[in-house]
Parts: sequence; C-alpha cells; structure tokens
Amino acid sequence: MIAAEDFNITKVKQSKLEGISLDNVPFGKYFTDHMLEVDYENGEWQTPSIKPYQPLSLAPSLAALHYGQAIFEGIKAYKDADGNASIFRPYDNFKRFNSSAERMEMPVVPEEIFIEGMRQLIEIEKDWIPAKPNHSLYIRPFMFSSDEAIGVRPSDKYKFLIILSPTGPYYAAPMRIYVEEKYVRAVQGGYGYAKAAGNYGGSLHASAIAQKQGYDQVLWMDAFEHKYVQECGTMNAFFIIDNKVITPGLEDGTILAGVTRDSTIEILKEMGYIVEERKLSIEEIMDAYKAGTLNEIFGTGTAATISLIKELKYKDFIMTFDVDKWTIAPEIKTRMDAIKYGEAPDNHQWMMAV
Ligand code: COI
Repeated sequence: MIAAEDFNITKVKQSKLEGISLDNVPFGKYFTDHMLEVDYENGEWQTPSIKPYQPLSLAPSLAALHYGQAIFEGIKAYKDADGNASIFRPYDNFKRFNSSAERMEMPVVPEEIFIEGMRQLIEIEKDWIPAKPNHSLYIRPFMFSSDEAIGVRPSDKYKFLIILSPTGPYYAAPMRIYVEEKYVRAVQGGYGYAKAAGNYGGSLHASAIAQKQGYDQVLWMDAFEHKYVQECGTMNAFFIIDNKVITPGLEDGTILAGVTRDSTIEILKEMGYIVEERKLSIEEIMDAYKAGTLNEIFGTGTAATISLIKELKYKDFIMTFDVDKWTIAPEIKTRMDAIKYGEAPDNHQWMMAV
C-alpha cells in the first residue's frame, strides 16, 4: 500500500500563473504547474510522482495509440469566499473510473493514488483555482496502456496521470441541438457507460456534421430503433414534460452515469419534482412540444454543469424555446453552485476539503 508521505514531489522554481489571467479562461487551454504520474508495472502500482507539468516521451508502438485502451474522468475543484478549496464528489468519479477500467480490461487504481494523489496535487496548485462564479479548476485523471507492442491484447504496463486546468463556462450560451438519426454513440453490450476515450473520438464525426449546419451538438438515439434518446453531446439530457422530469435511464449500459446527473436528480427531488429515469422516445418529446407541455430541456455534465437547450431539430421538425422564461434548470444550477462555492450547507456531503 502506498502511503501519503511516499509520494515523490518535485516543485517548479517559478509558477506559470504570473502570466495568466484566470478571468473567463477558456476550457482546457491552460494547465497548471504540476501533474501527477504513476506507472503500473509487474502487477502493481509504483510510487506516484508529483512533478512539473511536462510532455511525455512515448514509443510509436505504444499500445494505447493503436488500440485505444484509454479512460479518463472529469472532476472540479472550487474555492469558497474564504479561499478554502474543495472538490465536488471525487469519490463518485473514483468509482466510475474503476468501473471504466474494468470494462476496458485495465487495472483498477487504488484510492490512495486516485483520491490522495488528487488532493496533494490540488493542495500544491490551490492558487490556480479561479475565485469567480462559473469558474473552477478542472481535474482530469486519465490512464492508458503503455506496453510498447502492437499485439492486440491487454497491456502489462499502464500509466495513470492527473492534470489540472483552470476553466470558465464550457458552453457559454444556450445550445442548438440536432437529433442524430444516422450515427450512434453506444449500443447495449458496448461500453457507452464507460468514460473511455473511444466514446469521444467516435462522436466527433456526427458532431462536426451537426456543427456545419449551425448546431452545437447532437442528441444521440438508441442504436436499434433510433427511437429513444440517450446522451446529448458530452452531457446527460433532462426533459421536463408537464412539470415532471424525465431523463434516460442507465439500465442499458449505453449512458454515462453522470455525477452532475445524479446531483441534479437529488436537487430536483428536494425541489419537490417527480424524476423518472426511463426510456424516452423522440415521439413523446415532439408530442409534448406540440401539446405545449414540454417545459424545459437541458444537459448536465462536469464540464458543462447545467446547459440550457434552446432548439431541438428532429428531421424537418424544429422545436424552439424561450429559455429566458425557464425557472427549473436555473434553480438547479443556483442550488448546486451554492454548495460548490460554499454558500449553502453541504447536506449531501458532496464536497471534499483539500
Ligand atoms: C466532463 O464533463 O467532464 C466531460 O467528460 C466532458 C469533457 C469530455 C469535456
């Protein structure tokens, strides 16, 4: 077992932070001074290092580059008004990371590396957490196979890293969404529930086509009937119909079990709403729109938080919404942000102090 005091720590002489403004910083553009890196070799995790953020030197035969054994997580750290740093629900991401690892035939990462490594790294990088509404420090843990061999088989070696990136809002404005009829993201028995790199790489072609038509993202449909909605871009999707909340269920294993999705469901229940996790067809959505009972649509995700959807296009049918009149999604965001930024009591014990 690796103890907290075993970590090898090498700090930079001069921080890059002096030259960077953390106001309205774009998602994923800047990375902090340090990163965590650990190797898995001979059946065990080696001693973690926290060291200056730097390029990796990798062989062209690196297994992950050929066969995509690569997974990641997205987590955020926040600062309260007194400058105290805390991380939103890191244990939920830790569990999901290891469930992704199992699905991709990779070793699980122990808590003393994933959670304690993240905590130590953020303690060093506290100054990089922007103290501003809608801003945070995005935490990106990831793991990939690192055998230098191109036989198709699980690797013997892996690398686990954590990098950090200060960030402002991901989708700044309400979104226009295209319901995808041809391409699919995930199928029952596949790995749609895993946060595997391939799920994102495979999504880019359909997103690019939608973007050429002026849409921000696609709403994925099920692979068999192209009838039931799944995820929306990199987010889980929520539909409020007749004041009842519906979000696609997780039972088929085609949808990521979002931590923001789960937090949204909890908050909605506290607000007194009925939340149904179930199959939802595009016909049901269109029927509700035509009947005037489709109240609000939004996406949830770590990067995106709560993002309103102002337009949904299915075939030739366009559904548009006046998002300025919406109250439920903005209220969820207000309540969740109040917990994240330490302005409301953390009754759920979602925040982990750094
Ligand atoms: C996240 O919300 O953390 C995601 O995984 C989306 C990301 C790929 C930008």
